[in-house]
Amino acid sequence: MIREIVKYPDPVLQRPTERIAEFNDELRALAADMFDSMYKAQGIGLAAPQIGVSKRITVIDLSNKQNPAEQIVLVNPEIVFREGKQHEEEGCLSLPDIRDRVTRAAKVKVKAQDLDGKPIELEGTELLARAFQHEIDHLDGILFPWRLSALKRDLILRRIRKLQKTGEWK
Ligand code: NI
Repeated sequence: MIREIVKYPDPVLQRPTERIAEFNDELRALAADMFDSMYKAQGIGLAAPQIGVSKRITVIDLSNKQNPAEQIVLVNPEIVFREGKQHEEEGCLSLPDIRDRVTRAAKVKVKAQDLDGKPIELEGTELLARAFQHEIDHLDGILFPWRLSALKRDLILRRIRKLQKTGEWK
């Protein structure tokens, strides 16, 4: 089921999520909804708070629905290793039309669980490493402008406030 994407400044995007303890049909349905909603919005990653659910789960598909083997579900993920630096442009479905270059680790290792609760460990570089860091930030209540300089972040927030005033930001 496609669910509506929650936009900044909704508070659900700005608080840490709850760890998942039960691996049941409800969780599988949530992950399926997250993929549906992400594909509809043409994103490559989506975290549960972005559909209003404050739980520690995120989905990623860099292939944009072209390759089922690239579907990733991370339950209770944590970054356990980071190395190097990359500085590339990011956007976010919860901040439409806002893009900026964010400094991230070039390579990360993530420990998580799959939908059955089985422990998994994944490694990513380049775009995948960025997706891991961006989505796991969401699960900690952090949006990408928070990773920019205070000056750049304030410019973005000012731009959003202007759009809110004119009714262009819903
Ligand atoms: Ni995002």
